[in-house]
Amino acid sequence: MISVFCTARLAATGFALLVLITYGFCHVFSGRGAFLQVGALVGSIMVGNVLFIIIPNQRKTVDALIAGREPDPIWGYQAKQRSIHNNYLTLPVVFVMLSNHYSFTYQTKWNWLILAGVSVASFLVRHYFNAMHTGAEPDWRLWPAAALPIALAAVLTLADSYSAPSATAEKPISFTEVRVIVEQRCHVCHSAHPKFPAFSEPPKGVMFDTPSQILQYSKQIFAQAVKTHTMPLNNITEITEAERAALGSWITAGSRTN
Ligand code: HEC
Repeated sequence: MISVFCTARLAATGFALLVLITYGFCHVFSGRGAFLQVGALVGSIMVGNVLFIIIPNQRKTVDALIAGREPDPIWGYQAKQRSIHNNYLTLPVVFVMLSNHYSFTYQTKWNWLILAGVSVASFLVRHYFNAMHTGAEPDWRLWPAAALPIALAAVLTLADSYSAPSATAEKPISFTEVRVIVEQRCHVCHSAHPKFPAFSEPPKGVMFDTPSQILQYSKQIFAQAVKTHTMPLNNITEITEAERAALGSWITAGSRTN
């Protein structure tokens, strides 16, 4: 018979494996790609649970009942176990889907730990609501327990984003040079009419068509293309480290256009 302990043990083993795989993905793919890959993996596990355990076991139970036989209780326990696992896996998948729009979640070197921590927090929150839905009094201590890994994730993100950019340019950078870099490396997507075929409008509304727009976004340019390598997307336009450093120097010197 499958006990609660057994369900938890399988979940813990699966989670430990997922963290290990996430660590690996984060060291092979870009943070963004790694998170997507983890999301696809977890989504596949959930589909597999339904397709290979829950539905077949239900069929076996129904077939046994129709044939007038006693259904093996293990079928029901197994299906319940996998449906509990799927229930706890939904929030991490939602987080992974949303995370791709927020580079602070996946861009730091601690991204794998942040994903693991947020997942643990989501399991605890889920546990609270599951208990509540059975009519029992849920344990309030689950909230501070969930807040802990979230706080850790925030600290890790902040610690990484306060580290200095890797390089600075040797000489002062003029706005003309900055414009050339932005034209070459960013403008193909970030324009009122992007030339990049995947976009019919500027991503997140960010446009670099005029000097004032570049100026307006200078802080974000620093965050996305100097401090982190979130932009250009997957470095599709092949910006160099020297160009990132040039953008950084211009911005730290006060983003002057004259
Ligand atoms: C291949 C297309 C592409 C290129 C080239 C590109 N970006 Fe982006 N950029 C995007 C997409 C897509 C998003 C929206 C990302 C999202 O929603 O998560 C974005 C978002 C941004 C944002 C907003 C980020 C936010 O979270 O608010 C900034 C700032 C930005 N890019 C700056 C740059 C800079 C600077 C460059 C050049 C060094 C650049 N981008 C090159 C596609 C591109």
